Amino acid sequence: MDGEIGLRVDGRRRRLLVDTRTTLLDALRDGVGATAPKKGCDHGQCGACTVLLDGRRVITCLALAVAHDGADVTTAEGLADGGRLHPVQEAFLERDALQCGFCTPGQVCSAVGVLDEVAAGHPSAVTEDLNGPVEPTDAEIRERMSGNLCRCGAYVAIVAAVRDGAR
Ligand code: FES
Ligand code: FES
Repeated sequence: MDGEIGLRVDGRRRRLLVDTRTTLLDALRDGVGATAPKKGCDHGQCGACTVLLDGRRVITCLALAVAHDGADVTTAEGLADGGRLHPVQEAFLERDALQCGFCTPGQVCSAVGVLDEVAAGHPSAVTEDLNGPVEPTDAEIRERMSGNLCRCGAYVAIVAAVRDGAR
């Protein structure tokens, strides 16, 4: 069965006819032509498909497209403001926190989501004071970025880049 949905992807409105079983990842890549979110595992285990969905990070291979009619999607491509990179993208470049193009778009989207969660005071499993403000410590960053795998092992630089992005 097909269903028609509307999405706003990186600032552009799109209407799509999708099979109701279509994942948001496939709708973005195949229906919209947004190639920043990558299909790494297709099982919710690598984070390569992460986007910001209505401002919160979501792994799109486990989300059904029809469940997100009307949603606002920001991919790694849409984080840049025209020719100006997002501060987190700049930080990844400066820290050399990347090697391949496959996991990096998801890492960057996740990092932006992480910093928003920290700024909003949302606790994680390693937050000691559940009532106080949350600091973007290395432990917080490691815990919150743990759903994004980097197969080449750029983790140390990624933690530094996320820390820089919080400034
Ligand atoms: S492709 Fe979605 S988590 Fe791996
Ligand atoms: S940057 Fe992609 S596997 Fe490490």
